[in-house]
Amino acid sequence: MRQHRDVVVIGSGIAGLCAAITAKEAGLDVLVLSKADSPAETNTNYAQGGIIARGRDDSPELLAKDVLEAGVQLNKQDAVRLLAEEGPDLVYSFLVDKVGVAFSRDSDGGLDYTEEAAHSSRRILHFEDHTGDAIESALLAYARLVGVDIRPAATAVDLITNNHHSSDSQEIYREREVLGCYVMDNRTGTVDTILANHVVLAAGGLGNIYQYTTNPPEATGDGIAMAYRAGADIINAEYVQFHPTALFHKDIRRFLVSESLRGEGARLLNHSGEFFMGRYSPQAELAPRDVVARAIYAEMAREGQSYMYLDLANHYRGEKPIRERFRRIWSTCMEGGLDIEKDPIPITPAAHYFCGGVKVDQDGRSSVRRLYAVGESSCTGVHGANRLASTSLLEGLVWGVRAARSIAAEREPVPAVRHNAIPDWKFPSSPDAFEPSLIYQDWNLIKLTMWNHAGIVRTRRGLERAHADLNYHAHRIQKFYKEAVLSRDLVELRNGVMAAQLVVAEAMHNERSAGCHYRVD
Ligand code: FAD
Ligand code: SIN
Repeated sequence: MRQHRDVVVIGSGIAGLCAAITAKEAGLDVLVLSKADSPAETNTNYAQGGIIARGRDDSPELLAKDVLEAGVQLNKQDAVRLLAEEGPDLVYSFLVDKVGVAFSRDSDGGLDYTEEAAHSSRRILHFEDHTGDAIESALLAYARLVGVDIRPAATAVDLITNNHHSSDSQEIYREREVLGCYVMDNRTGTVDTILANHVVLAAGGLGNIYQYTTNPPEATGDGIAMAYRAGADIINAEYVQFHPTALFHKDIRRFLVSESLRGEGARLLNHSGEFFMGRYSPQAELAPRDVVARAIYAEMAREGQSYMYLDLANHYRGEKPIRERFRRIWSTCMEGGLDIEKDPIPITPAAHYFCGGVKVDQDGRSSVRRLYAVGESSCTGVHGANRLASTSLLEGLVWGVRAARSIAAEREPVPAVRHNAIPDWKFPSSPDAFEPSLIYQDWNLIKLTMWNHAGIVRTRRGLERAHADLNYHAHRIQKFYKEAVLSRDLVELRNGVMAAQLVVAEAMHNERSAGCHYRVD
C-alpha cells in the first residue's frame, strides 16, 4: 500500500507524541508509528524518578549549571540554555495544564517536588515512583483526542531518500532529502511505502545492545541506524550512560531502582557493610551517575561480587511511608521476596541511556533535509558527556514541540512527481525461512561484546576486539537480512549491530575519558 502524509513520526514515546500533538494542532496530517503491539510500550513508560520542572529557589542559570557539570562541560551550551529557559514552562503549560498529567501532590494539594543526584534544587515532578506511565498514558489519550493517527505493530524498516531510492536518475545530483519510510506490518509481513513531507525520528535508545539494561526490548538502536544509513550525521555515540542501580535479582530482569531513592536518603553499602561512596566522591550518593556507577563497578571488582546493596530502610527521610512513595519499586521487590522497608536492595549498574544520536539543531533538524530527530534517538548536545537525571523526558518534550513548530512553519510539500518516482519495497524472490535461534545467538554475541569491551570501563585492546568482532557479525547479519523473510526481529538485529558498531567506532576514536566514556588506557 502507498500513502501520503504531511508528517510521519517514528515512535510513540514522549518525544514522538509531543511532536505529533503539536503538528496536529497546527493543522497537519500526522501518522505515528510504533513497532510494539501497544503504543504505550516505550522507554518513556518505564521512567521512574520524574521530569525537571522548577524548584522553589531555582532559576534557568542554576539548572544550566547542573546540566553542564553533569555533562563535564562538553555539552552544547546553546542547547543547555534553551532547555533551561523553555523546559520548565513547557512542563507546566503542556504536560500539566494541557495534557493533564497527574503528577503527585503534597499534603497541601500543591505539586510535589523531589530531589535527585547532582541537582542543586528540589525541582523534579513525579508520579509516585512510576512517572513514565502517568506521562505516556496522558499523552496517548490527548493525542487520540485531537485526532493523531497512531499505528501500532508497524516497524519502520528504512528511511526513503531521494539519493538512495528514487527511480529518477537526476535525484542523485540533488541535496539528500528524506521523502518517507518503508514500514512493515508486523502481523502480515507486508511493507507499505509511506511518503511524507517530513519524517520525525523519535525511535528511542539502544540499551539492548548491552547484556544488562534497564530498557524495555524495543530499544534496539533502530532510529540511529536508520538515520546513519540515510546519511545523517551521528555524534557523541561513545557516551552510553549506565544507571548505577538496577535491581539484581534472579527472577526480575530490567528493573530500575530509581535514583530518587538516593535523593530521599538511601545509601550504598558493600558486602563488608561499609558505606563506600565517600571514598569516591565528596558528593557521596548524590554524585553524578557516571561517578556512582564506576564506584559500584570498582567495589564489585574489589570484593569479587556481582552486586552491591542500596539501603533505603535505615536512611529514608521522606514524609510518606516507603510503600506509598516508592509504590512500584516496593511492590515489585515484594513479588521477588524482598521487603525494601526492612532489607537492603541488591543492585548492579546497567546500560540506561544513549547520550549520543542523530546530530540536530535547536529545532531538531538533522543534517539531511526533511528529516528531524527528537528524544533519545537525537543528540541535541544537551547532555554532553553524561546526562543529568530527569533531563531526558524534558528534552523529549522541548525538542518534540520545537520540531513540530518548525515543520509547521516550513510547510514545504514534496512535489507529487518526486514522490511518484519512489518504488515500492522489493522482497527477495525466494526468501530463506525465519530462524529464531540464529537471531538469538547473534544478539547474545553483540550484547556480550558490548558489555565486556564497550561498557562502564573501556580499553584500547578491548575496543579493538569489539570492533573486529562486530564487523564480522555485521557482515553475516547483513547477508542474512537480504536473503531471509523480513520480520521485526531481523530489522532489530540489523539495526542493533549497526548501533553497536557506531558506539565502538566513536569510543575507539576518543581517547579522552569524560563522563560516561571512561578509558583506563
Ligand atoms: P521512547 O520513549 O523510548 O519511545 C521510542 C518509540 O519508538 C517506541 O514507541 C518504539 O516502539 C518506537 N520505535 C523504535 N524503533 C521503531 C521502529 N523501527 N519502527 C517503529 N517504531 C519504532 N528519563 C527522565 O528524564 N526521567 C526519569 O525518571 C527516567 N527514568 C527512566 C527509567 C527507565 C527504566 C528507563 C529505561 C529510562 C528512564 N529515563 C528517564 C529515560 C527516558 O525514559 C527516555 O530517555 C525517554 O523516555 C525517551 O523517550 P523517546 O520518546 O525518545 O523514546
Ligand atoms: C531514575 O529514576 O533513577 C531514572 C532517572 C533518569 O534516568 O533520568
